[in-house]
Amino acid sequence: MGTSVRSVQPSRPGPAQTCKVALVGFGTVGSAVARLLLARAHEHPFQLTHICNRNVQRKKADWVPGTVRWTDDIDEILASDANIVVELVGGLQPAYDWVRRALESGKSVVTANKQLIAHHGSELLDLARASQQHLAFGACVAGGVPVLSGLYDGLAGDRLFKVRGILNGTCNYILTRIEQLGASFDEALKEAQQAGFAEADPTDDVDGPDARAKLVVLARVGLNADVKPQQVLCRSIRDLVTVDFEYAHDLGCTVRQISRAELRDGQFFAAVEPALVPQGSPLASVSGGQNMVMSTGEFGGETVFSGHGAGGNPTAVAVVSDLLQLLRYRSPGAQAPDRPDARPYEVSGDFETPHYLRFVVKDSPGIISSLAGILSKYQINIDAVFQRPGHDKAALPFVITLEACKTSRVETAIAEMRQFAFLAQAPLRMPILR
Ligand SMILES: NC(=O)c1ccc[n+]([C@@H]2O[C@H](COP(=O)([O-])OP(=O)(O)OC[C@H]3O[C@@H](n4cnc5c(N)ncnc54)[C@H](OP(=O)(O)O)[C@@H]3O)[C@@H](O)[C@H]2O)c1
Repeated sequence: MGTSVRSVQPSRPGPAQTCKVALVGFGTVGSAVARLLLARAHEHPFQLTHICNRNVQRKKADWVPGTVRWTDDIDEILASDANIVVELVGGLQPAYDWVRRALESGKSVVTANKQLIAHHGSELLDLARASQQHLAFGACVAGGVPVLSGLYDGLAGDRLFKVRGILNGTCNYILTRIEQLGASFDEALKEAQQAGFAEADPTDDVDGPDARAKLVVLARVGLNADVKPQQVLCRSIRDLVTVDFEYAHDLGCTVRQISRAELRDGQFFAAVEPALVPQGSPLASVSGGQNMVMSTGEFGGETVFSGHGAGGNPTAVAVVSDLLQLLRYRSPGAQAPDRPDARPYEVSGDFETPHYLRFVVKDSPGIISSLAGILSKYQINIDAVFQRPGHDKAALPFVITLEACKTSRVETAIAEMRQFAFLAQAPLRMPILR
């Protein structure tokens, strides 16, 4: 998309100058950023000048100095002498318009908004470059874990071809609770909501769009791939039940929501879905609201980043680290982490992996041979069949694991299996990540 920019006088501060910061959005992260900036005021050159939020009167906090101006008018921020706007409102609108306008009016922007960067990152980075300003977004992925700067700077010497990780703390918390307590999905979700780990509307988290936005940002920074969120397959964790963890344990695995992207033979593969991960994998050790990203490079092999994926303070640290990073970038238009040459790809979800298929059936003779017949028709090899004792014959769960094959082939076989009257529920498929 082309970018037209008004002629502006860049407002980059000099080394010894005070750098004026306007905060837009004073919620969980915004208020934590304000506290952090104020707590370390004598250690850095930032001066918090404005706080902008809708209905701002109710937001006013007595710990904020009287020199800070409170406003609910974004135009006041844009017309101010603030050098950097920190956008912590979230969502696509009005954040998109405000970030655009801030860059156009000669201000750099720091944001923690993964949806904004996943959907409009490319265009906004172009605009920042053209405006000779900076757009930093280190807090967008994995909250307080410096994974974007790690991939962009720390691993710049490698050629990365794979990133995968646990990018949504809400899903991880829910799955951990189902595993630990034998709770149902609904019970675990309710507990997560009561503990402050899940929103009242958990759709973005449990159905995958939140992790998908982060994966798109990771793919851009780590794999130099320019893809859109809607290109990436997302599958929900809602269908998981305790018995899936029991069978996963029998297989030496556990279940996690895994976001993965991979470049192979010039093709780009990506998906966000529940998957079996071996107990020995670092991914299996991620519990509660923690996040983890594993990258793989041609030369350096595997690198693991982990820590607090969310929360006001860890995310505020990432935001303030971005502010400090902006001060270090002196050359006009230099961006971090930017990929102006990011390459667009078609995205395939057709990974080749072993698979876990869980069936719940009304027990009767011949079930395995009917299912095996369809698998054989599509040249899919069965690895093993597991049936734990003690279940009700009217809703009997059992598992078939498959040798590595294309996901699309398994999906076709499952679609054909749906005709069987003995199925009490639709089959559940998960990849097994070895
Ligand atoms: N929370 C985390 O752990 C975390 C971690 C990583 C990244 N992030 C990202 O950080 C950003 C902020 O998240 P948050 O958790 O701080 O959200 P939040 O607690 O909901 O805060 C958002 C703030 O923005 C204000 N706001 C929303 N829409 C507005 C509008 N149209 N005009 C003016 N003000 C508006 C809200 O005001 P009201 O009080 O009126 O709603 C609220 O004060 C999001 O992009 C999020 O994805 C959050």
